[in-house]
Formats: sequence, structure tokens, C-alpha cells
Amino acid sequence: MVDILDLIKNDATLPEKYKQMSVEEMEERVKEIKEKYGRRLFIPAHHYQKDEIVQFADATGDSLQLAQLSQKKADAEFIVFCGVHFMAETADILTRKDQKVLLPDLRAGCSLADMANIYQTEKAWGILQETFGDTIIPLTYVNSTAEIKAFVGRHGGATVTSSNAHKMIKWALTQKDRLFFLPDEHLGRNVSYELGIQLDQMAVWDPISNTLEYDGNQDDVKVILWKGHCSVHQNFTVANVEQVRKNHPDMKIIVHPECPYETVAASDLYGSTSYIIKTIEEAPSGSKWAIGTEMNLVNRLIQQHPDKEIISLNPFLCSCMTMNRITLPYLLWSLESIETGEYINEISVDPDISKDAVLALDRMLANV
Ligand code: 13P
Ligand code: SF4
Repeated sequence: MVDILDLIKNDATLPEKYKQMSVEEMEERVKEIKEKYGRRLFIPAHHYQKDEIVQFADATGDSLQLAQLSQKKADAEFIVFCGVHFMAETADILTRKDQKVLLPDLRAGCSLADMANIYQTEKAWGILQETFGDTIIPLTYVNSTAEIKAFVGRHGGATVTSSNAHKMIKWALTQKDRLFFLPDEHLGRNVSYELGIQLDQMAVWDPISNTLEYDGNQDDVKVILWKGHCSVHQNFTVANVEQVRKNHPDMKIIVHPECPYETVAASDLYGSTSYIIKTIEEAPSGSKWAIGTEMNLVNRLIQQHPDKEIISLNPFLCSCMTMNRITLPYLLWSLESIETGEYINEISVDPDISKDAVLALDRMLANV
């Protein structure tokens, strides 16, 4: 078993001072700094964050809620974003220039966002335009880099999150005949299918071989899915669903739409992190649930609902290594850097990229 304190002690990035402090000392300092800055400081935390972080969050939410909240916090001079890199970038794009966005640990990336870069995307777009002409609108999951969001913004498209993908895909198909969906093929496929688009109307763009994977007549293609996935949600399989059905026949299965299509199809319900939380909150006492999403959230739901039987859909609990990079010592380090004015890990998106990315974000925010 890996001891988290050993990991922190061996972490070459973290200043020595934080390795020597006790948890109580760190918590005390975080409280002091929060009190000192009051409304000038805003700490949003994604639902996947550890409890040691969530206890200090001013707000918790899914990626859509956190984007909206960051935009509303006009009096926050400092936003210490407890989530992953693309979320902090989104907060920076949506806030004023004089508001500083810090990410406590720069290594908190997202394996899914890393699956599409701007060079691959430009290349794909060129080939797809030659193949399909001006019939395509791009949509990108917010789990993507600011550069991809800017690309989408420049080409008339929008961002989507797991909680508004239905609305946004519907909207996109009123704009153009076809949709180019980046970078999560599972979210794109799951939601398009629910909207009535057949699997044989969906092609897959492989950014490594620069080819379109499709068997039928190209005129029938309605959705072009980028071949990317989340390394955490990919681990919830049909075999996991079958196991739960066998061992707990009266258990309901709820999963995140980043899970593969086959897993979602075999489950009872699917939706964003907020949808999962709401469903469990509203479920009757005594109900039984297997949840297919990140382990910190599943564990929190287990603790918060002792009257319900809750398990992870995958018995080896899937954790997001990058979300878990944000720890109490890193939060404190980030907060203390505000006091000294020597900000660590400030996230500042290039203004040229930001001005196009905001188009894509605004089109989404206007639709939800
Ligand atoms: P939500 O939009 O549901 O919060 O999901 C974000 C995410 O990264 C899930 O892996
Ligand atoms: Fe990215 Fe997956 Fe982690 Fe969400 S769970 S932040 S999609 S790697």
C-alpha cells in the first residue's frame, strides 16, 4: 500500500517547509489565509477532489458549474482552482485580466485533454473539409486545451460539458449537417446515440494515422468522433456491469458518459458528476447503487449516504491520478504564494487564444 505521506516527502517539486508541517498546522494556515482574504479569494473544487481539499472549498461542482461560478465571482482577485489544468484555463478565459488564477500543482493535467493537440486538429480539419466540404461544425468537450477551444470558436463551434452535451449537440446540428466532436469519443457517441443518431452514422477520426474509420457510405456520416478517451472512465467495462448484475441483482448502475458506449448501454442511468450526486441524494433510503466514476466522488457518496448501499462499479476503484495531485500541502503552498506576491503556477492563457476560446465557451453558456 502506498503511503501518501511518503509520496509527499519524496516529492521533489514541493518546498521542504511543507513536508515538515503537520496536517493540523497546514489546515490552520489555510484557515488563516482564507479568513484574511475573505471574498478576495475564491477556492472552487471539482467533485473529484480529495476531502482534504473539499473541506476548504468555497464551492464544489461539475465542470460546467465551476466555469459558471468562476465567471460570476467578480470580487475574487485570486481564484485557486482545485481541479485540473483545463478547468483552470477555462476559469482564466472567463474571468477578467486582473483576476489571478492559480493551479496548486501544474502536474494536475487531464489524460483526455492531452489526447488532442492543435496540430493534429488543424490537420484533421483540412482533410475533413476536403472530404465533406463546408458541412461540419466542431464541438469540443471542455476537457480540452485552450488552443482547441480557440480553434472551435474560430470555426463557429462551441464547447460542451457532460451536463449539457445533449443540448449542445442538438444545437450544433441546427447549424451544420455534420458534427466533429473532440476529444472524447465516448461522450460524443453516448449522447449522439441518445439523440437518435445511429452508430452506423458515426465515424471515428484517428489522429495518429490521420484516417477516418468508417465502413459505410460517407454521405451518411452525421458525427465524426475524435479517437480519444479518459483513462479513468475507460476502466468501467461491460464485465464490471455483468459482475454487479450477478452479485447484486437489485442494484442500480449509474455511470459517467465518459465510459465506453457498451458500458453505458448496459447500465441503468448515465450522466455528469452533478447528475450522479443528485440521483443518489434523491434515491430512497435502502436503495442500492453501483457507480462508475472517479473514486474520490464514489467514496464521498458512500460516506454521505450510510442509509444506501453504494459500491464502485469497478472493484479496483478508478482514481484520477491528476485530480489527486492537488493535496493539502500544494493548496497551502499556492495560498502562501498569494501572500508573498510570488505566485506559483499562475494559469494565464495567451490573449490571442483566449479571445477565440471565449467564443466557444460563450456559445455554450448562452445555450444552457
Ligand atoms: P463533469 O463535467 O461531470 O464534472 O466531468 C468532468 C470530468 O473531468 C469527468 O472526468
Ligand atoms: Fe480527465 Fe478523466 Fe481525470 Fe476527468 S477523470 S480529469 S477526464 S483524466
